Amino acid sequence: MKIFKYNGMVILEENGKKEIISICKDYIHIREYEALDYKSYAVIKKDKLIDFEIKNNSIFYLNKRIDIKSNFLLDIYENDILVLSDIIVKKDFDNDDNGLLALEGHKVLDNDNYKYFKGIKLNENDYIYGLGDKTGFINKRGYEYINWNTDDPSPQVDSFKSLYKSIPFFIVKGIKNYGIFVDNTYKTIFDFGKNKNDELVFASTDGYLNYYIFFGSMKDIIKSYTYLTGRTPMPLRWSLGYHQSRWSYSSKEEVLSLVDNFNKYNIPLECIHLDIDYMDEYKVFTVSNERFNDFKNMILELNKKGIKIVTIIDPGVKAKEGYFVYDEGIKNGYFAIKDNEVYHNAVWPGDSVFPQFTDSNVRKWWGDLTKIITDYGVSGIWNDMNEPASFNGPIELDVLFKDGNDYKTHKEIHNVYGHLMAEATYLGIKKNTNKRPFIITRACYSGSQRYTTVWTGDNHSIWAHLEMAIPQQCNLGISGIPFVGTDIGGFGSDCTKELLIRWIEVGIFSPLCRNHSAYKTKRQEPWEFDDEVIDIYRKFVNLRYKLIPYIYDLFYKHQTNGLPIIRPLVLEYENDYKCFSINDEFMLGDSILVAPQVKNGAFERIVYLPKGKWIDFNTNKIYYGGKSYIYETPLDICPMFIKFNSIIPILNDTNIDDIRNISFYCYGNKGKYLHYQDNGIDFNYLNKEYNLYEIEFNEDYNIKLKYNGFKEYDNININIIRGNKR
Ligand code: GLC
Repeated sequence: MKIFKYNGMVILEENGKKEIISICKDYIHIREYEALDYKSYAVIKKDKLIDFEIKNNSIFYLNKRIDIKSNFLLDIYENDILVLSDIIVKKDFDNDDNGLLALEGHKVLDNDNYKYFKGIKLNENDYIYGLGDKTGFINKRGYEYINWNTDDPSPQVDSFKSLYKSIPFFIVKGIKNYGIFVDNTYKTIFDFGKNKNDELVFASTDGYLNYYIFFGSMKDIIKSYTYLTGRTPMPLRWSLGYHQSRWSYSSKEEVLSLVDNFNKYNIPLECIHLDIDYMDEYKVFTVSNERFNDFKNMILELNKKGIKIVTIIDPGVKAKEGYFVYDEGIKNGYFAIKDNEVYHNAVWPGDSVFPQFTDSNVRKWWGDLTKIITDYGVSGIWNDMNEPASFNGPIELDVLFKDGNDYKTHKEIHNVYGHLMAEATYLGIKKNTNKRPFIITRACYSGSQRYTTVWTGDNHSIWAHLEMAIPQQCNLGISGIPFVGTDIGGFGSDCTKELLIRWIEVGIFSPLCRNHSAYKTKRQEPWEFDDEVIDIYRKFVNLRYKLIPYIYDLFYKHQTNGLPIIRPLVLEYENDYKCFSINDEFMLGDSILVAPQVKNGAFERIVYLPKGKWIDFNTNKIYYGGKSYIYETPLDICPMFIKFNSIIPILNDTNIDDIRNISFYCYGNKGKYLHYQDNGIDFNYLNKEYNLYEIEFNEDYNIKLKYNGFKEYDNININIIRGNKR
């Protein structure tokens, strides 16, 4: 093995093959030589190279040493403690579902042909987190997953290997942590110790070996990963309010009566989502005249009441001559092709064609088309079916998508199709409205957090999916995507009274708080059940509004720390092994611990509180952490604890368009907190139009305006809660 310096990087050379290592302060970037000019869809920062030394077969920099062995294997040490050790692993990846299917006489698909990439030795006590929206539990150790954006609406369970999103980033928490980002858009497999307990393997079907290794605490690793792939800009503040959706509210009358019901039952409502039936024949960028004859006026009226409308837009364009989107796309060669002809498959509109979002002209065209929607007064776009989903069998791998003067295969760009659609939508809305775009997407890739919020797709109204909502959102957050939510109440299947109650008790903590359900399922607006549901639902949606300033502050802090809003306990308590695989509790930021009831028919549960003191949000009683408690959970109670010595901004109002009054609840004996305020709408905050308040309390309290660029609150209240004995 030859090791030498070249252009500030390390080159390894063996048997005519070369690999490059870029050494940066917080991570290293390893790739095969051929990937030197690879243009990433995810990464937006150049590697900032730092100095290193090569001695014998080792690279030295800062507190690290990388020993290079043959076959390009690395051992990485920090202060002489082994962080990671590469190993040679040889095996084929069988499609194990095929095994059972074949045994039972079914026709099976061929195994994928993985190009062999990387093996790393796992230690006994390593835990693995991240990898986006995958099913199952918070700790991914012992499982195998495949990144290939997949629309499968059958109830998603632990054995699913793929879901809608491909985020090839994970953190291994061990004696020394490391994070890995495999920047390869082809189908990629991750074996987290499934085949051999002590082997971590990742391999892709094509493309280059191109990956990053991050070091430090879990928080450090997320910070570095989101530095590279970008962070979610400040959201529209109203988007943190309550959203109501169903497939579909399909007429003006239905929408208006929905609003009446929210008023009647006095439940706050911010936004209504219109699913595919608002369109004419499911043709994107059209509105059905029959069902919404004065769409613009309806929206105007709703907007006056503070209610916003979001509409769904799918990528599949109806193939029908005379339909302007189809005609324009055909004329300009904007749709994917196969064998020199425009490629067709089927989605909601029937026979459909697929925009080449890989091409910047097509993205611009699509972005400009969104003006049709925003000119109606629509406040956000919901991107769906963008895996891309197809009803006539999978889109063939050799379908071609233009990218400048080049063409890319579906095999290469499948996993970034949703990402590029989100980019097109984001840039279009931003240009057309000058406001912060609100976009929701089902499919995405690393870096999509720069453009869009995500929801977890077609869950079901089953208890297992309420339970899964917690690890799924926590792992999305660890994977750099903070703005997440699940369909509250469940999308498929029929929701029950108890399940809806327990789901809203979890859902109000999701940054994206939306109740959504499928066509023909039992309706799941709260009044479809009984008065008890309405009362509890109202209580929790009101609590959501109280927490909006706190959640908004977390987004502000995300701008610099990249951290998620919903966090697994392990992210806050890295040294407390009892937190390493908690699936039924989570943190909202660093100060609120939520331990919801997610079991059917259960009216008490065990709550583990990490070391330190906690104040029960429901009773103001003090709890001592480092142990578990049995906590009563009648239907209207969600256990929630505030970390002792923290401050939570609380809104005692449901008007979030213009917040004039704010309260700070100070819990414990002393604390300090930074609160952010801006207009919640546009990008003026980038021109310094915001305020920063520093709140401090001990015996007394003190509020300091740290930075003043925006109109201040009319009233600021302080409440000090020292906590009562249990
Ligand atoms: C997909 C979406 C779902 C939507 C439906 C109809 O299944 O995931 O949310 O309601 O399509 O558009």
